[in-house]
Amino acid sequence: MFPGAGAGVIPLHAPAFRGKEREYLLECVESTFVSSVGAFVDRAEEVLAAQTGAAYAVACVNGTSALHLCLVAAGVRSGDLVLTQAFSFVATANAIAYTGATPAFLDIDRETLGLSPAAVAEFMANECERDAKGDWIHRASRRRVSACVPMHSFGFVADLDGLAKVCREFDLALVEDAAESLGSTYKDVHSGTVGVMGALSFNGNKIVTAGGGGMILTNDEALAKRLKHLSTQAKMPHKWEYRHDSIGYNYRMPNLNAALLCAQMEQLPSYLARKRALASQYAALLDDTPLSFCNAPAGQSPNFWLCCALLENGEQRDAFLATANAAKLICRPAWELLSELPIYDHAIQHGTLPVSRDIQARIVNLPSSPHHFDD
Ligand SMILES: Cc1ncc(COP(=O)(O)O)c(C=O)c1O
Repeated sequence: MFPGAGAGVIPLHAPAFRGKEREYLLECVESTFVSSVGAFVDRAEEVLAAQTGAAYAVACVNGTSALHLCLVAAGVRSGDLVLTQAFSFVATANAIAYTGATPAFLDIDRETLGLSPAAVAEFMANECERDAKGDWIHRASRRRVSACVPMHSFGFVADLDGLAKVCREFDLALVEDAAESLGSTYKDVHSGTVGVMGALSFNGNKIVTAGGGGMILTNDEALAKRLKHLSTQAKMPHKWEYRHDSIGYNYRMPNLNAALLCAQMEQLPSYLARKRALASQYAALLDDTPLSFCNAPAGQSPNFWLCCALLENGEQRDAFLATANAAKLICRPAWELLSELPIYDHAIQHGTLPVSRDIQARIVNLPSSPHHFDD
């Protein structure tokens, strides 16, 4: 049924190191610059800015820390409410929780699998009001609503025009969780660059990996400087003195990881081409089957990080997962909705999240490694 089936286990997403990974890592070791200062860190930031069109890129130790730092720099404070989607990986909500804010879980759009601008507008217009200071306050919890974090699920890009508009209307900082969407564009603009900041991940399962790593994209010079400062323990520049002007974070990306990332980034164009070709193959292969392939929404070019298909219902999904995994095709369901996790019992949920529930019950991720099928 699938290309490559029968040749042993077909992983969901395996990294491949076929470029200059060894060369750059060795260069790092020989230079002794293996830790958080080094030429590869600067180079990775330049490469990511150039690739995405962002004016600035700030390297971090992973995507979760990158997202956390975005929220801190966006002014999210303890006690705030931050709007996000229930259909996401737990790191999205955890980054919000690290600031002391509470997530408010909203529904997604069926076409993009990303946060619904209509749900944000409805929540803000019906459940929130401006106070005397001009802040938007959630009436029931009396919390200030300060930011909105859409996530670009599996590399599909959320409706960024709609989200940017509603965030402008309600003074929300738009911070994109672009962990899964390196290479995905929306109306020819790279994901993660429409909001005030966007966070990428280079975890081992992502389209390119640094082993572990993250990157913040922004077009705001002052924010970029602040992010870099906060990520380096907020240490003030001085030849030898240790002065820190705020409580910073040790969120720097080590040079070793940056070396791996630089080598991987050289291969991104070929990975994207392979993934887009694989998506077309899946779409053709799944035609006339009970699986309906999730294709690119209008106006965007996703990276197809994890190819997805929808079954008719949860029962069919479970049967498919059992059969596929028994045949060594590693397929996976989506995450449990964040609103269902006991750790987020205290969070706000807007409405019954019908689209999130429906998609979560029926969607599967298909093997999507950029290189596996040509071995
Ligand atoms: C949606 C989403 N947000 C955040 C992260 C966190 O990235 P990292 O694992 O690099 O911390 C990931 C991936 O792991 C993710 O998929």
